[in-house]
Formats: sequence, C-alpha cells, structure tokens
Amino acid sequence: MNVYDGMRIAAMLEHHGFEQTENVSDADIILLNTCSVRAKATDKVYSALGRIRRAKKPNAIYGIVGCVARESGADAFRKIRDLNFVLGPQSYHKLPEILNDPNTKLLDINLGGLEKFDELPPITKSPHVAYIPIQEGCNHCCTYCIVPYTRGPEISRPYNDILAEIMHSATVGAIEICLLGQNVNGYKYTDEHGKTYRLSDIIRDVAKIDSVKRIRFTSSYPTEMTDDLIDLFRTEPKLLPFLNMPIQSGSEHILQRMNRPYDLTGYMDIINKFRTARPDIQISSDFIVGFPGEQDDDFEQTINIAKNVRFINSYSFKYSPRPHTAAALMPDQIPENIKSERLIKLDSVLNEIQREFNLSCIDKTFQCLYEGVDKTGTHHIYRTPYMQPCIVSTEQPKTLANIKITSANKSCLHGKIID
Ligand code: 5AD
Ligand code: SF4
Repeated sequence: MNVYDGMRIAAMLEHHGFEQTENVSDADIILLNTCSVRAKATDKVYSALGRIRRAKKPNAIYGIVGCVARESGADAFRKIRDLNFVLGPQSYHKLPEILNDPNTKLLDINLGGLEKFDELPPITKSPHVAYIPIQEGCNHCCTYCIVPYTRGPEISRPYNDILAEIMHSATVGAIEICLLGQNVNGYKYTDEHGKTYRLSDIIRDVAKIDSVKRIRFTSSYPTEMTDDLIDLFRTEPKLLPFLNMPIQSGSEHILQRMNRPYDLTGYMDIINKFRTARPDIQISSDFIVGFPGEQDDDFEQTINIAKNVRFINSYSFKYSPRPHTAAALMPDQIPENIKSERLIKLDSVLNEIQREFNLSCIDKTFQCLYEGVDKTGTHHIYRTPYMQPCIVSTEQPKTLANIKITSANKSCLHGKIID
C-alpha cells in the first residue's frame, strides 16, 4: 500500500512540474511516507526527519505523510517546529495546497475514505507490476493492530473506478496486477443498480485484458475466503499459484486473545480447498511472536503449524505494543529477550522451509517477469510465479521469459532463459 501511495505522490508532484531526485540537498520538497504498524518504523521517522533537516536547502519544504502522520497529528509540529506538512494516508492528495503558500502549515489527518482516488492525477507510466488498491481500512480489530485507527474502517472502491485504473496501468506498461487491501478478500461493492461485486469479479475482468499476464492479491483474511474466489484458482491461469494468508499464531488461545476468531482446523480446511483447486499453490503467512501471554507451548504450536503448512515467503515479527490497541494494555507482556529468541527460532524454521522449496525448483521451468538489474548492475532479476527472485545472465532480458532453474539457495534462484 505504501509503495502505491509513494508512486501516486510522485506522479502528483510530477504533474505539478517537479522531478524526482536521489539527493536530499537538491530537493525543493521532501516527504517521508511513513508506516506505524510496528514501533521500530515509527521510531525511525523523527531521526530521519532530523537528518533531512540538516541536509536540505534552507527554503526546501518538508513533511510526513502516511500512518505516522495520522498517529502524530499536530504533535509532529511541536516536535519539529519548521516541519511544513503532516498528511494522513487518506489526505496526501492535499499536498499541492502547500505549494501555493509554503509559509503555511498543512495538517490533515482525517479519514477521507476514497476522496484521494478522485483527486489524484493518473500515473503516466507503470512498472511491470502495478499495485491497485481495491479497498482501504479494516473492520477486523485484531487486538495488536493499529491499522483500523490509522487507515480507518473498511471501505471498498467503486468497481468501475478500479477497472478503469487497471486498464490505464495496463495501457502504460503493467504486465502484472497486484490487487491490494488490508482485507482484500473482504472487497464488496454494490453499484447504483444494486449489483454487488466481489474480489472474484475483479479478477475475472482483469484476466480479460490481453496484455495483463499475471494477477495476484494481498493481504487476505482467512475466514473471508469464499468459494467463488477459491474456485478461480482452478479456472483462471493468470492468477498466480501463490497466496498470502496470515495466520499470525499457531496457538488457538493466542488467536483468541488476538481477536482472530478462527481455529487451526478451519484454517487448514481453507488451505486444503486451495490445494485441491490448484495443486501447485504455495501459501505465505505473517507471524507475530511474543504476543502478550504467549507461553513456550503456544510458541511451539506456531513452529508446528509453520512446519505442517510449509509456508514460503513469510514475514515474522516480534510483537510491538501500539497506541490505540487493546493488546498494548494487556498485563502479561513478554520480555524483549524472549521475543528475540522466539523470532530467531521461527526464522530459522521458515528459512529452512524456504531453502528446501527453492531447491525443489531446480530443473523446473517457470514463466518469470522481469524486475530489473541487481545491485552490482551485472545480473538481471526476474520474479517467479512464487515471487522468488531469480538471477539470470543474459544480454537481452525479455519482459516475460520461460526460465529453467539451474541452482538455488535460501534467498534466490539462478536460471537460464529457454525462450
Ligand atoms: N506488532 C508486530 N507485528 C504486527 N503486525 C501488525 N501489527 C503488529 C504489531 N503490533 C504484523 C502482522 C500483520 C503485518 C502487516 O504486520 O503480522 O499481518
Ligand atoms: Fe490489522 Fe490485518 Fe487484523 Fe485488519 S485484519 S486489524 S489490518 S492485522
């Protein structure tokens, strides 16, 4: 979501005659697009603002957008006096207002819902992967999560607006469409004729666009997986065989305290339905370790579920107490050293599963999408249908290539283009 917001902000400023620079000291306007989902990201914001303040031109304007802006509000101006703007994740389209009068302070942290989508100028070129938000906010209220506060209640974008944005992205270069939402499979929109659209309807229509070759969506809530969506994995080859469906914990007791009302049997039933529909599907998850009250036994159950499902490409985090959340007030917080130990253990299990999955890809051929050159500038990087990076030596990279995997390790694959 932040990548998408960043691109729209850049396009908006380009529309106003700005161009991007890598160098803070050259910039006339500088903004930090911020995330507040864990404390670590939030903590970095003010030190980064201090660095920007020292490096920027004296008359350059600067500020923050996104979830830390929403969380801090006017406090941000008290912390850094000469900050020019503080705009929440649903108000960044108001940024041009400050260009008319750089001496004002611009503060807007309202939850404006979908207004920004109508106000932003369209992008003029798309990378191969276009991220398209179809809904924002979340009604789930997991007890650890700040998102319902920062992004507000769940709201689905009008179906036609989404399709128009996707068509436009495809026209200006997108090959892969990644449909986004904090609760993407909860998408539900009823138009003026009373017709209701779900995520599966969007996917079916996107698949009809010839130049779009790959479709995926993130992030899904387990109990909102409906049969129409699962069935699409059987019938729609453009839908990648890869799904992020966070479980968060393998302990039902902890899931209850997280206010995630599903049990392990129910979660496994959904995975099995996906595997029946698409036998080559792989599942990714998010995990939180050290949630308040998590005992060794609860944590062992998380390790067990990770091994049983064999999740790939997963994300694991130490529980981070956040303002405006119920879990931050729970009395049985877990000490930092135990959280760290558990994270190391879980990561080593997830890494081993990832390594084994990557090794199982050797000698297989996948259609992969070109991403760009690696850091050294000497190799080309593709993404497999499972989002693994695949390194290829070639003079002329094609946008979509059939690549045979020749070797693999924990973090990437190597391959050669066969056509
Ligand atoms: N602490 C740690 N991780 C969190 N996440 C959300 N809130 C917190 C928190 N307070 C993780 C969840 C979610 C992902 C986006 O971030 O795993 O799925
Ligand atoms: Fe946060 Fe996801 Fe839970 Fe919504 S479903 S409250 S975004 S963790």
